[in-house]
Amino acid sequence: MTKKIFILNGPNLNLLGKRQPEIYGHDTLDDVAANCAALGADLGLEIELKQSNFEGGIVEMIHDAREQAAGIIINPGAYTHTSVAILDALNTFEGPVFEVHISNVHKRESFRHHSYVSLRADGVMAGFGVQGYELALRRMAVVLN
Ligand code: DQA
Repeated sequence: MTKKIFILNGPNLNLLGKRQPEIYGHDTLDDVAANCAALGADLGLEIELKQSNFEGGIVEMIHDAREQAAGIIINPGAYTHTSVAILDALNTFEGPVFEVHISNVHKRESFRHHSYVSLRADGVMAGFGVQGYELALRRMAVVLN
């Protein structure tokens, strides 16, 4: 059976392509979904990309992943830097977790340098633009082989 990968996105990422394009680029989240679906098909992985502006919504997506997904790729947006609840939820998930940031958070304000999610993530991509999702997906295919 094809393994399913959840690609979870936090607040404001629904505005990708319109929001601060000088930082986040011009691709939309629909573009990311289409690119990852095409790559997933090549890698033999089924992709489900979701987004929520609510912390609890992301927690519930992670709970769903416990039943449905072999791996999680997550860009928690600003909740990266604040959310113990998302960290706790990720700690209930047994498969690989990769954290993605479109921008290089380490080159930005110091409050973006700390990530609660990194305490659980098996790998982190930052500063590779939206291509970071595809790079994380390629790694996911390797670790799930
Ligand atoms: C982000 C970086 C976060 O600091 C920010 O709050 C975001 C997006 C990124 O993808 O670069 O919303 O996660």
